Amino acid sequence: MKIDDGLCKILIVLLTLISSTLLSCTPAPESEVADIQAVTDNKTEITGGPPPLVVDTSAPLLLDEPAEDEETFAVATTQAAAENTACFVCHANYMTEFLADRHAKANIGCVNCHGQSFAHRNDENNITPPETMYSADKIDSSCQNCHKAHDIPAKKIIARWAERGLDKTDPNRIVCTDCHGDHRMKVRTVIWDKKSGKLLRTNKGD
Ligand code: HEC
Ligand code: HEC
Ligand code: HEC
Ligand code: HEC
Repeated sequence: MKIDDGLCKILIVLLTLISSTLLSCTPAPESEVADIQAVTDNKTEITGGPPPLVVDTSAPLLLDEPAEDEETFAVATTQAAAENTACFVCHANYMTEFLADRHAKANIGCVNCHGQSFAHRNDENNITPPETMYSADKIDSSCQNCHKAHDIPAKKIIARWAERGLDKTDPNRIVCTDCHGDHRMKVRTVIWDKKSGKLLRTNKGD
């Protein structure tokens, strides 16, 4: 019948319109996603569940420990006052690390010690260093900006040294992080000169 044919044509036109609209809603390119992520990071609310992270599955695996389960994750994010989720996208093994966690609870986040480091965190090639790195000779003085004195019984100090199985023999080389936290990475995939920020070595390529 004629009227049905007309209806049919209208329907086909409508369907074509709808499907072409749908097709134009393809996801934003990855670089845009990263930008949006950077902008929304500051506003991310701390809730009971995992935050809405954009995880780059093609990024190299940085963990030298197995990934934490969801429960650990939720606890770490709800207790922490500082917002470290932008760094946890790649540095997930710092979610439960003592120094990072203890300071996060005092509202001192990764960015307070390492800088906002937008270029570092948005670099998919992982060759841009963070803004602030600490060579061995800079560690104690950086901690001492906030922790002036250290009044701990010798017994406790010796016990800690023994417990951590440290083998430095030159007392001048001992730094705060030898005894506190588990903040140094055991396995490195990218090495920068900590003073100049120059890229020295990566695991991909050379
Ligand atoms: C896109 C992934 C990514 C994000 C996001 C990221 N990092 Fe990194 N970061 C890396 C990689 C890769 C390395 C090199 C790790 C290695 O050697 O295995 C690194 C190394 C570092 C280092 C070690 C530098 C040194 O002393 O050698 C620091 C500090 C650091 N990141 C801080 C941060 C902070 C702070 C944030 C959040 C503001 C952050 N990163 C977010 C990928 C990332
Ligand atoms: C209170 C300051 C402070 C905070 C907070 C902090 N860091 Fe660090 N970070 C340091 C110092 C100091 C070093 C150098 C430690 C060393 O070499 O023993 C360091 C070293 C590192 C390294 C390189 C370790 C290596 O193997 O050379 C990475 C990666 C890193 N921090 C990531 C983070 C991330 C991610 C966070 C937040 C979750 C964070 N840091 C929070 C002070 C801090
Ligand atoms: C920006 C200031 C700041 C810097 C830099 C800083 N801290 Fe802290 N740190 C704090 C604050 C604030 C607390 C929480 C104090 C509290 O709650 O009693 C804390 C807590 C700690 C604690 C736990 C103390 C306790 O009683 O449990 C240790 C250990 C510690 N810091 C070591 C370090 C080391 C090692 C460094 C250098 C890598 C460092 N801090 C750098 C401010 C800082
Ligand atoms: C040889 C091991 C050792 C070294 C090195 C060391 N500490 Fe400690 N520190 C201890 C022990 C043990 C305690 C007792 C509390 C604990 O169990 O953490 C302690 C406690 C602390 C505390 C909490 C109590 C307090 O006095 O406020 C802070 C903060 C701290 N250390 C900061 C530092 C800083 C900063 C440095 C570097 C300048 C440093 N420590 C170097 C072993 C060490």
